[in-house]
Amino acid sequence: MVEAFAVASGKGGTGKTTSTLALGMALAEEHDVTVVDADTGMANLLFHAGLADVETTLHDLLADGSDRPASDAVYERFGMKVVPCGTSLDAFRESDPERLRDVVADLAADTDVLLLDSPATLASRSAVLPVVLADRVVLVTQPTIPALSDAMKVQEYATAYGTGVAGVLFNKVRDEGGVERVATQAERYFEGPTLGAVPADEAARTARRAGEPLLAHAPDSAAARAYRAAAASLDVATGPATGVAERFRSAVVPDGP
Ligand SMILES: Nc1ncnc2c1ncn2[C@@H]1O[C@H](COP(=O)(O)OP(=O)(O)OP(=O)(O)O)[C@@H](O)[C@H]1O
Ligand SMILES: [Mg+2]
Repeated sequence: MVEAFAVASGKGGTGKTTSTLALGMALAEEHDVTVVDADTGMANLLFHAGLADVETTLHDLLADGSDRPASDAVYERFGMKVVPCGTSLDAFRESDPERLRDVVADLAADTDVLLLDSPATLASRSAVLPVVLADRVVLVTQPTIPALSDAMKVQEYATAYGTGVAGVLFNKVRDEGGVERVATQAERYFEGPTLGAVPADEAARTARRAGEPLLAHAPDSAAARAYRAAAASLDVATGPATGVAERFRSAVVPDGP
């Protein structure tokens, strides 16, 4: 069966895109993984994955009236299938966000794990869709109270639409002792476990500049090791793939919050 995870946060810049690709590469050791840049208004996964020059992206699949198959925007990279999104504002305006349901349904027919890199805020219909469509959400947050409180809002939104919480992933951690205290608090407020704590690591920035996912660019870095441990703690649902496509295709799209 396919399990779809939205990688979300509440705040911008917490490391959702870095985490989507890192978890994707780690999970790809055991599963067939597809990562999708579902941040269609502010896409940047393409820059992290060396796909800035590709011809066809998610925007082309979402274009009003498009009947292109999802496979047109799938690129085999780093042991995964990667679906980048373009950065043109015009293309975003001309896209029909609800078509993401059909795209995800198409992709789901041919993969085990779907990771949806999600927009930071949940301020519009297109921004909430990944969280609504996913089975579970991975909440990426810095270990500070304001960041946690925003992640809790995402949790509240997700659970209101029947999306479960896979867990909380702390990123850009500078103080191990501090994160332990925050994690103890977090276990009380979040409906999922702490998946891990990824240190602030210059390797994440150099990877981004090189246009490579962290696990490809610096596989032995402290951050890469922490991501592999976090991925190992995610027990992905497996089983028969009946009715998966229909589940995504028929998801009810809410109005923005
Ligand atoms: N563990 C880390 N240590 C240091 N820098 C990091 C770490 N994780 C991510 N970064 C850097 O932080 C910046 C933001 O990361 P990323 O683009 O993954 O965040 P995001 O949540 O997807 O951002 P946005 O909300 O803009 O989509 C990037 O420059 C990235 O290289
Ligand atoms: Mg991002």
